[in-house]
Amino acid sequence: MNSKLADLRRLTPKQRRDLLTAELGLDEADAQHLERGSLGYWAALADRDGNAENVFSAFPLPLGLATGFIVNGKEVAVPMATEEKSVIAAASKGARLCRPEGFAVSVDNPRTIARASILYADLEDPWSIYTDLFGNTALTTNLQEMYNPLRKYGGDIISVSIDQPLRTQEGKAFLVISVMIDSAEAMGAMAAVRIARQLAELMLPKTKKPPTAIRPDNEAPGRLVTARASWPMASFGGLEMANRVMAVQDWAASDVSSAVTHNKGILNGIDAVAIATGQDWRAIDAAAHAKATKVVIPVRTTTVADRRFSDDSHKPPDPKRYYKPLTIYKKEGDLLVGKLTIGLPVGTKGGATQSPMAVLCRKIMGVSSNAELAAVMAAVGLAQNFGALRCLAGEGLTEAHARLKR
Ligand code: MEV
Repeated sequence: MNSKLADLRRLTPKQRRDLLTAELGLDEADAQHLERGSLGYWAALADRDGNAENVFSAFPLPLGLATGFIVNGKEVAVPMATEEKSVIAAASKGARLCRPEGFAVSVDNPRTIARASILYADLEDPWSIYTDLFGNTALTTNLQEMYNPLRKYGGDIISVSIDQPLRTQEGKAFLVISVMIDSAEAMGAMAAVRIARQLAELMLPKTKKPPTAIRPDNEAPGRLVTARASWPMASFGGLEMANRVMAVQDWAASDVSSAVTHNKGILNGIDAVAIATGQDWRAIDAAAHAKATKVVIPVRTTTVADRRFSDDSHKPPDPKRYYKPLTIYKKEGDLLVGKLTIGLPVGTKGGATQSPMAVLCRKIMGVSSNAELAAVMAAVGLAQNFGALRCLAGEGLTEAHARLKR
């Protein structure tokens, strides 16, 4: 299918459904899902009181199609669920203007890597546990042997790590132990929490007490996705417009208010795909903002042997934080080259990813693995950002919204 689907805007929603059904060879059941939207599915779940609490109805969003995407050489039509005007138009514009090369996307890990951490806030002697476990791989091996539900899905427990104890506000030491997993095709946050729970059991002879808390880490370590694209300046207003776009980019790099808005625009695109494909978009947003936050932590000079808080050396370090735009752009000859790097904890198995509409949206995109899905989402984020910068530097948001009104 040519994802440009040139005349889509001129068609009615019914004609667009028919076109997609024909282009993708969808079967009768899929066509019916398109006809009814996801309302039927969620309403039926709501009637069974499923998925959330105190459910009394279901809340669908408009589902549109972003066109013109070429991701790693493949045409992709991208379903996006959003209530915000101009999001799909901006993404499609960004995608069309960098054809025929499109987006080159690399995913640094084919699987989603998830992590959960265990907090111990009132241990007798956290330092001896820390000294014992630091660099000790036996715990990972023991855990892998004792409890590893991931292997049957093609995943694994990757590692257990321990942080140097830090001081609570009351002056006690607290210890954090983390487990990192390859969650295969699932997003994996709850799987990591379950495994962390087992790890805490395994630790009991050492800790002598259960943990204070266990939580998933939404920083998405080990799952960075980088999308690149080049836009010929001639396609969007020439050198003068490229300079204006660069000025808006520099603005985002110079000021937190502008940077968060810039990154929100990227998430406008990514979240819309996330919702359409049944992802936990709040986890994606958390990972994005974590990536945007560059933390510079002063180096500690004390050693593990210093087991007491006799001076300031084991206070939590005083990090300096910078918040920056997730994209960068530069001019190369007559091209504007853009790059987005973002953590994308996504899945194609588990939870809402199995709802019929989410399955159908992935089918429309032609993605079958979470790495392929992450690649398309990163391309959409970059396209969205370019489209937004181009709009801000050009006609402006109010004019763009007015033009899209019918
Ligand atoms: C609006 O939802 C998003 C934008 O403000 C993003 C940006 O300013 O880069 C257009």
